[in-house]
Amino acid sequence: MTQINLAIWGSGSGSNAQAIIEYFSGSEMVKVALVVSDVSDSFILERARQVGIPVQYLEDSNRRNPEYLINLMNSYQIQMIALAGYMRMVSPRFLIKFMGPVLNIHPSLLPAYGGKGMYGNRVHQAVIENKETETGITIHLVNERYDEGEILFQHRVHISPNWNGEELAKAVLKQEHFWYPRIIEKIAKKLPDSL
Ligand code: GRF
Repeated sequence: MTQINLAIWGSGSGSNAQAIIEYFSGSEMVKVALVVSDVSDSFILERARQVGIPVQYLEDSNRRNPEYLINLMNSYQIQMIALAGYMRMVSPRFLIKFMGPVLNIHPSLLPAYGGKGMYGNRVHQAVIENKETETGITIHLVNERYDEGEILFQHRVHISPNWNGEELAKAVLKQEHFWYPRIIEKIAKKLPDSL
């Protein structure tokens, strides 16, 4: 089996990226070959630099340019992409051209608490306000609409009645860190060698 080259795209702290990088360090199955961000000083880029993974900052015009993005992915022979806190819409024309799977992780049980404007602590705040008793994580394929691609995996998180948004966020993030690398690995195993 050949090693799959994975790119991680993010905009923020990169704690999921860190979990993925650590999980695959020394793996023969998946190599984190590139970390991409649309925010030049985001911590996700710093985390990658610290462990010697190539990084690429996407300035606005490049981020919107499908040819640029395809060339960038090709130059690192990227076969699979994991969005991890990437706050922009991925160009639909790029999605059509890119041959491999593009995954995203969302901190709720989609379709609940998804869509434009539903991200980060807004999700958890809304869940608490609605007095939900459970929430969770969703890992899905990315398509041209926010949070609407095919769902690959969900994991439930039970909400204690006394939790605030911060405590809930922490519990959900812990599950993201555990499951995202494992689901990436599962998808990578199914990819044809020729991709
Ligand atoms: C995570 O909650 C993820 O579900 C969402 O954005 C957050 C990213 O956090 N898409 P981090 O940058 O991985 O710390």
